[in-house]
Amino acid sequence: MTTLTEAPACTQVDTVADHAPVLPVTGHDTLAPLVDGRRVPYANLDVAASAPALQAVADRVAATLPLYASVHRGAGYLSQVSTALYEQARRTIGDFVGAREDDVTIVVRNTTDALNLLAGCVPAATDGTPGRVLVLDVEHHANFLPWQREADATVVTGRDTAAATVQALRDELAAGAAAGRGYALLSVTGASNVTGEALDVAALVAAAHDHGARLLLDGAQLVPHRRFSLEATGVDYVAFSGHKTYAPFGGGALVGRRDWLDTGTPYLAGGGAVRRVRTDATEWHDAPARHEAGSPNVLGAVSLAAACQALAEVDPDELREHEDALRRRLVAGLGAIDGVDVVHLWPDAADTVGVVTFTVAGCDAGLVAAYLSAEHGIGVRDGRFCAHPLLARLGLDGGAVRASVGVGTAGEEVERLVAAVAALVADGPQARYDVVDGLWIVVDDPRPVPEGSGLEGLLATAALGAEDAVGCLPD
Ligand SMILES: Cc1ncc(COP(=O)(O)O)c(C=O)c1O
Repeated sequence: MTTLTEAPACTQVDTVADHAPVLPVTGHDTLAPLVDGRRVPYANLDVAASAPALQAVADRVAATLPLYASVHRGAGYLSQVSTALYEQARRTIGDFVGAREDDVTIVVRNTTDALNLLAGCVPAATDGTPGRVLVLDVEHHANFLPWQREADATVVTGRDTAAATVQALRDELAAGAAAGRGYALLSVTGASNVTGEALDVAALVAAAHDHGARLLLDGAQLVPHRRFSLEATGVDYVAFSGHKTYAPFGGGALVGRRDWLDTGTPYLAGGGAVRRVRTDATEWHDAPARHEAGSPNVLGAVSLAAACQALAEVDPDELREHEDALRRRLVAGLGAIDGVDVVHLWPDAADTVGVVTFTVAGCDAGLVAAYLSAEHGIGVRDGRFCAHPLLARLGLDGGAVRASVGVGTAGEEVERLVAAVAALVADGPQARYDVVDGLWIVVDDPRPVPEGSGLEGLLATAALGAEDAVGCLPD
């Protein structure tokens, strides 16, 4: 069974206070108001949810805006420039994840979009029933619900170790093949959005391919943090999000094998996806145009390509060492505090990216997150992280707190988080908090909204959001 274990409290890990970000990101000098009237630099330790833009991305977007015009639809000079920029961005994005010669790169909105798109392309079984897809219960809902809705999805429960988990997948793939009901696709996260832990990609590829299935890697938490290559690993498809890859301009990508994408259901019906339309019949394009109906998001594509370029220029070992050092310090620092438990899935994980989830005994996760924001200017995530099946299995239906780091995180921000949680456990929160519409808020919150933001107040705005998104917040 998967375990919720206390991090090794006695592990000594040096302070990372002097670790500088690897690349500059926007917002690092934004001051956050605290309830006591002070302002401190905002510590964004929620990059696994949405990462700030790389400065290089912001610069590229600013440089592209004067060139912006319609894509694939205009004869004007700027339309042609924008079309060329869009197609060049597609190549850069594909290259970044090691697209093979015949792979297709489809520009989508985000990982959720990519997985929904592919769900419409999984070939049916020979008897005409929907293609079978195998997933783990550790998946983000985005790698769960599309298969449940569009395909014939089977869920394998994760095991105590990474090796046993891969073996359980392998056994189920073999059983399906032996029964003449083989799986078309194995779809697994490249790194857990709850613990950052990853399974061995080579073992997953072998398990899928040995039994006639393809492998999709949900790269939402992997691609921004590790150098990944379809060609080098043999993975068939990868999906990822621009807003988690330091390019928050509405782009994302699905990259992989052409045949399913050329024959699958066009993701959106509309202009750009068709060769010819009659009133009684339509001839659809091949991929990628087949799945990109409507006006393309050129800024989303260009910004994601700029992020890919900037990340590709960083020494992968430097990036890994930076994020590893910060994660190790978080795990050791938080785990050394009385009553704080760090969540782990697999002691033998093949790799772990910079995501650390924890609980504080006697303290609701929402309260911890509200306290960190209000009294320390630190942004983290709380809730069930769109991974309800996993959190239920871990006995964490009440939610947990997640801190995450990336290329733009400074070590000093990690030290602030560890110190703030220690202060919470030692002294409790200093402000008064209450729950409104399911959200923890500061009672009579004195913090102003940013000048020029047009907001009337954080409380009013958050409450509005909660009402509109019943069932989604704060999970
Ligand atoms: C592992 C994983 N997959 C998929 C998603 C969905 O990403 P998006 O919201 O960008 O579609 C997330 C988002 O947190 C994630 O962490």
